[in-house]
Amino acid sequence: MTTTSHPAAAPAYDVDPAALPGFAGLRGRNFFTDQEFTREELLGLLDLAVALKALYRRRPLTPYLEGRTLAMIFEHPSTRTRISFEAGMTELGGHSQFLRPGEIHLGGHESLADTARVISRLVDAIMARTAYHTTLAELVQYATVPVINGLTDDYDHPVQTMTDAMTILEHFGTVEGLTCAVVGKCADAMGTSGALTMTKLGSSMVMAAPPEEQMTPEVEALVRANCAESGASLTLTDDPVEAVAQADIVFTIGWWWMQPEDEKNELRRILRPYQVNEELWAHTKPGAKFMHCLPAIRGEEMTDAILDAPFSIVLDEAENRKHFQKALLLALIGIDDLPADPDLQPIARALLR
Ligand code: CP
Repeated sequence: MTTTSHPAAAPAYDVDPAALPGFAGLRGRNFFTDQEFTREELLGLLDLAVALKALYRRRPLTPYLEGRTLAMIFEHPSTRTRISFEAGMTELGGHSQFLRPGEIHLGGHESLADTARVISRLVDAIMARTAYHTTLAELVQYATVPVINGLTDDYDHPVQTMTDAMTILEHFGTVEGLTCAVVGKCADAMGTSGALTMTKLGSSMVMAAPPEEQMTPEVEALVRANCAESGASLTLTDDPVEAVAQADIVFTIGWWWMQPEDEKNELRRILRPYQVNEELWAHTKPGAKFMHCLPAIRGEEMTDAILDAPFSIVLDEAENRKHFQKALLLALIGIDDLPADPDLQPIARALLR
C-alpha cells in the first residue's frame, strides 16, 4: 500500500514517539468539547497526531484498533468529517458505521437516550454531528462509550480546530505565542471553536466582523478566561485590515451553509467588506498563512487567488483531520496489550502508560 499523504513542505515540527506522554488517563473520556481537557492533554494529543502521521508515511496500516467499531451519526451532511473518520478507522484496523436519522430509528420512534444506551452496548465509540449542542449533550449523558463531537452546528467543532492547531504546529513549529485572525463570520461555530481552542493553547485571537456576526458575550467570557490562564489575548474589531496586519494565520469561514436564498443575500451584503482577497492580503505580514476548514464558497468569503495561493494551507488542514482523529480515537478507545509488531510499539507504550 502506498501513502496518499501530500505534505506541502517538510514539517517544522517532529515528535519522537518514545518521548510521548502517557494517554491511559484519557481512555473512556468524551470529546464533547476540547475545553474539558487540560492544555497539557491537548498538546499531548497533537504530538500523538504528528507521530501517527509520520508512522502513516512509512506504513499506512497500523492495526491498533482491530475489531473495534465506531458508530457515526450525521444529522447534517459532511465530506471531510465522514471520510476522515472512516479512513482513519480503516487504517487503525477497525470499522465505522455511517448512520443517519431516518435510516435508523433515531428521530422516529426511538428516543436519543435509548439510541445512546443501545449503541453503547454494540460499539466502542460514537462520533456525532448534530444541529444543536444540546442534542450532543444528551447523547453524552446517556452513552456509556466515548462520544466525539463531529460538529454541533450552533456552537463547536473541536475535531476541526484541534486539527487546525496540528496544522499550525507543523508549519510554525509551535501553537503558542502566535496571533490568529478570524475574518468575517466570527459568530459561526468555527469562530467560537477556533477562539476557544487557540487561546487555550496559548495563541492570541483577533476577530474581525460586523457587530451582528461577532462572537456572543457568553463565548467572549470563556475565551477571555482562557486568555487569563494561557497569557494569550483576544481582540474584537470590525476592521479586517487591523486584524490581518498582526496575524501569523488568517482564517475565514463559509458565509452560509443551509440558509435560504434571502438570508444568503443579506449575509453577502454585510460580510462583503470582510472578503479575504488580494487587496486585504496585501496588509498581512511576510510568512502569513491562510486557513479555512472547508467547504469554501469560492468568490464569497475568499477569492480563488487566496484559496489556491502557495500560502494557503487548506489541503494540509483537510488531510490532518484524519491524523488528529486517529490520535483521538486511539486515546479515547485505548488498547489493552502491547502489539507484537515492533513498529507499533513506541506509540502503543504511550497509549498504555
Ligand atoms: N470541515 C468540515 O467539517 O467539513 P465537512 O462538513 O465536509 O465534514
